[in-house]
Amino acid sequence: MMEPALQRRVQRYGWDKAAAYYENTWQQQLKPAHDTLFDFANIQQGQKIIDIACGTGLISFRAAAATGSNGFVLGTDISDKMIEIADKTSKEKSVRNIRFERMDAEELKINAEEFDVAICALGLMYAPSPVNALKEMYRVLKKGGICVAAVWGKRDNCGWADIFEIVDKRVSSEVCPMFFNLGNDSVLEKNFELAGFSTGKIKKIQSSLDYGTDEAACAAAFEGGPVALAYFKFPENVQKEVCKEYLASIEKYKTAKGYSVPGEFIISLGIK
Ligand SMILES: C[S@@+](CC[C@H](N)C(=O)[O-])C[C@H]1O[C@@H](n2cnc3c(N)ncnc32)[C@H](O)[C@@H]1O
Repeated sequence: MMEPALQRRVQRYGWDKAAAYYENTWQQQLKPAHDTLFDFANIQQGQKIIDIACGTGLISFRAAAATGSNGFVLGTDISDKMIEIADKTSKEKSVRNIRFERMDAEELKINAEEFDVAICALGLMYAPSPVNALKEMYRVLKKGGICVAAVWGKRDNCGWADIFEIVDKRVSSEVCPMFFNLGNDSVLEKNFELAGFSTGKIKKIQSSLDYGTDEAACAAAFEGGPVALAYFKFPENVQKEVCKEYLASIEKYKTAKGYSVPGEFIISLGIK
């Protein structure tokens, strides 16, 4: 079992490395999950929203536009670099109803019952204890508030899943040992319940990660994603080797236009 403190460090500094590549390599591919999460959240004008593991703020800025000038969004993430990029974007775009702060999902530096809506897009899988992260969302929500989280689905339904194994066998500590656990049947609902939420609704969506070239597929897997910390430390020959192995693992998803790699998302809503 990986030490929680080590997992947090791997995540924090790994996403620091990935931050600059993240939007280019993932924004389009995650859109189906983001859209469903956003529909579920059904944000109303004037609401206070917290975005957990907000990354560069892709969902936070959508939430800020939906809640309007009388509402407010707080985006939180464990990576300083992600927060830095999100903050810079808010200044460049003069978005005034948003603030970003570095926080661990399992330890929000926020008073209880402050928010109407808590959202978390593709972040829960990275917390050492997803249930503790959900408990924190529960704590900071007002009574009747809603929490919506999107996670990756079953390992077998995510065609890119071999990247973890390919990297893990070359490093001393695994990147994210329980990554696909929340994608197993009923695990996400169970975690919501354990955190105190009443079940709202849940949806599974099948999607595809489409890449035009080998380079684009490898950039998403290694530069802009969860294994970036290890990848950027590898010497060039090992970087080439892991790319080759990854491309072999997704070879079966080759199309006339590049790759269409299957992916599954699960989106869940709970009520406090
Ligand atoms: C795949 S990105 C998702 C970013 C954003 N929510 C989106 O959908 O574009 C995962 C994010 O989780 C963050 N993260 C990982 N572990 C975390 C933790 N324990 N607490 C808070 N954020 C964490 C990473 O820094 C990264 O920005």
